[in-house]
Amino acid sequence: MKAPVRVAVTGAAGQIGYSLLFRIASGEMLGKDQPVILQLLDLPQAQTAVKGVMMELEDCAFPLLAGMVATDDPNVAFKDAQVAILVGARPRSKGMERKDLLEANGAIFTVQGKALNDHADRKVKVLVVGNPANTNAYIAMKSAPDLNPRQFTAMLRLDHNRALSQIAAKAGKPVAAIRQLAVWGNHSPTMYADYRFATIDGQNVKSLINDEAWNRDVFLPTVGKRGAAIIEARGLSSAASAANAAIDHIHDWWHGTNGEWVTMGIPSDGSYGIPEGLMYGFPVVCENGDYKIVQGLAIDEFSRERMTLTQNELEEERAAILPLLG
Ligand code: NAD
Ligand code: LMR
Repeated sequence: MKAPVRVAVTGAAGQIGYSLLFRIASGEMLGKDQPVILQLLDLPQAQTAVKGVMMELEDCAFPLLAGMVATDDPNVAFKDAQVAILVGARPRSKGMERKDLLEANGAIFTVQGKALNDHADRKVKVLVVGNPANTNAYIAMKSAPDLNPRQFTAMLRLDHNRALSQIAAKAGKPVAAIRQLAVWGNHSPTMYADYRFATIDGQNVKSLINDEAWNRDVFLPTVGKRGAAIIEARGLSSAASAANAAIDHIHDWWHGTNGEWVTMGIPSDGSYGIPEGLMYGFPVVCENGDYKIVQGLAIDEFSRERMTLTQNELEEERAAILPLLG
């Protein structure tokens, strides 16, 4: 039997938490032979609800669930954590400006970044889901100077998966046949889902679909505004699909992608002219617990325009929270 892996999840009493924790405990994220210890963080007022979720986890009798901890203290939740999924965040309330939202979350993610810095396993893999995910991940990364910035990532996998499904439906092909999709930038409506390099059974998706108007007027707005469409329809933001994307993201980072491209929000290394350090969605391949940006892709004028738009938004978010970082 392998030694258990410590997985910290924040916002454990929330709706994404409720879709996520059972799948982690059943082995869907780290493998069917990998025991896990869940370290659950939520606010003091949510501790009773966390206890309820733990009771349900117990009642599943998952053979791989080797232990659980519930706490409202990030220093306890992140102790020796090898994986940390940061879901809990401050939602936008009525009348709140974007800047206020960034600042409220800044306060959360500076504290959690520092707690990861001081207490987590030195190789911890961090995924930020809570919005604004890219900038929250940037804040956590900057608050953890003793960890490698590459250990901090933001979730763009939901945008990637949404784009896969839209392409599959348009092309009349199964989702699993699509390779080499890229999503660039911010997890926000400005993100740029780019299927210029994608293939289905070896055929180029762009020539298969051959409909630029669909790309510009249907595909990009549909994927970009999908989160808002779900909130409109459900009265709540996406939860099961967000949890599924978090499982995919960590699964692939942990196990590798066998050369397949996936999208991760990562600190830019300057590739494709994206300013170094910006937490930006890139196409990557994962291998040996690490990721590598797919290099050498041609960027045409339309793509550069879209990539710059989402870059500008991220730079504005970063400028708004810089004072918090001291
Ligand atoms: P939710 O309101 O149901 O749950 C959030 C939980 O986080 C609550 O239990 C709350 O008490 C907790 N929390 C708040 N502040 C906390 C803190 N400082 N420390 C620990 N826990 C804290 O929300 P949800 O539907 O689970 O969504 C969570 C976040 O994920 C939101 O920010 C949402 O916008 C975001 N989200 C991101 C994506 C993505 O693709 N990146 C997709 C969907 C949702
Ligand atoms: C999503 O993409 O579904 C979410 O990020 C939407 C949101 O604002 O929570």
